[in-house]
Amino acid sequence: MRAVWVTNDLPPRTGGIQQFVGNLLDRVHPTSTVVVGPAGEDAAEVAAHDARQPYRTVRAPGAVLPTPAVRRLVTEIAREHRPDVLVLGASWPLGELAPRLGRELHVPVVALSHGLEAGLATIRLGRLVRRATRGLAALTTISDWCEERLAPHVRADRIVRVPPGVDVDRFHPGVDGRALRRSWGVPDDATLVGCVSRLVPRKGQDVLLEVWPEVRRRHPDAYLALVGEGPIGDDLARGAAALGPDTGVVLPGRVAWDDLPAAHAAADVFAMPCRTRLLGTDVEGLGIVYLEAQAVGRPAVAGRSGGAPEAVRDEVTGSVVDGRDRGAVVGALDRWLTDPAGRRAAGAAGRSWVEQAWTWEVIADRFAGLLDEVVTDARRSGAGS
Ligand code: GDD
Repeated sequence: MRAVWVTNDLPPRTGGIQQFVGNLLDRVHPTSTVVVGPAGEDAAEVAAHDARQPYRTVRAPGAVLPTPAVRRLVTEIAREHRPDVLVLGASWPLGELAPRLGRELHVPVVALSHGLEAGLATIRLGRLVRRATRGLAALTTISDWCEERLAPHVRADRIVRVPPGVDVDRFHPGVDGRALRRSWGVPDDATLVGCVSRLVPRKGQDVLLEVWPEVRRRHPDAYLALVGEGPIGDDLARGAAALGPDTGVVLPGRVAWDDLPAAHAAADVFAMPCRTRLLGTDVEGLGIVYLEAQAVGRPAVAGRSGGAPEAVRDEVTGSVVDGRDRGAVVGALDRWLTDPAGRRAAGAAGRSWVEQAWTWEVIADRFAGLLDEVVTDARRSGAGS
């Protein structure tokens, strides 16, 4: 199977879609795939990353959007590589390219969807989804919540569930996060609440900071680490400083990809009380971080936004709360901070759930099967000949 992937979301840039695309690329026909990706911020980091991958990456001069220049670049790469299938890393807006590319290259086009497309459908922008899916042989969805909203608008020949997963060999309960938490200034005997995420309003780091004085009043030895970087980083740093000295809040910044499992293992409880914003367009499609935290055996506190509640088993592997309800966030943190045995039980339950349902092996197999099906169908109908 030869594939060309077209994506604006690709490691080394941080984010869920980047993780998702990178992990599928590693496992689905990597040596017979060419990827058209975005230029990226740090050219040296991008070049070093690309050189390590089993697939060839061609970086566009800027972002990978549905422009004539990107279409020409993809056509050029495809004429040289002769793929059996074209894969789009996100259906919107890249799906706009699908009808013409599919026709010109005589290949079926498959696109992944994430939270944004379902968000568009919820605010009556379903027509954008219809336009972006009309040239697709298949569209993948990441959660029940997303699929329910997308399905009425999707014009692709089929919809298949392909959620993001977690690498259970990298993220496991034996990962030692102690050195990393020491480097953040967190004492060994403190109980640490961790949030590993891009620092953006939807994720709810601001609410964690707001409720922190109350959590600290109940648990004077507790620490809070807001790991990651992003647009609200400065606001969060100011908010943390305003709480006063010795409040146990640390903002360690972005961690390297290799340190991600240790960043999760450093914490005793994971919390990201996400909330839906911007009339429903800014919504959590699923939340890979919840899977990562459960894979290292930590209880996860999730917000009730989009598909996030599907990533955590409420009261079994963590808690699902309304991310706007400060009292509920305090209650969930209090519950897990108070009960070390409960944390261990939830951590074990989370690990086994992730092993059963969320491993990349299972998910990548399903995606590879989907590519086989669409290519076989296209050949049968003569479109791929
Ligand atoms: N290296 C590194 N460093 N990775 C980080 C850091 C950091 O400082 N902070 C966050 N990440 C990683 C997380 O560990 C996770 O793997 C990823 O970035 C974030 O993934 P999500 O929690 O899924 O959030 P998202 O908003 O970027 O992703 C969107 O698409 C996903 C895939 O479809 C959302 O719609 C998610 O809900 C969806 O799961």
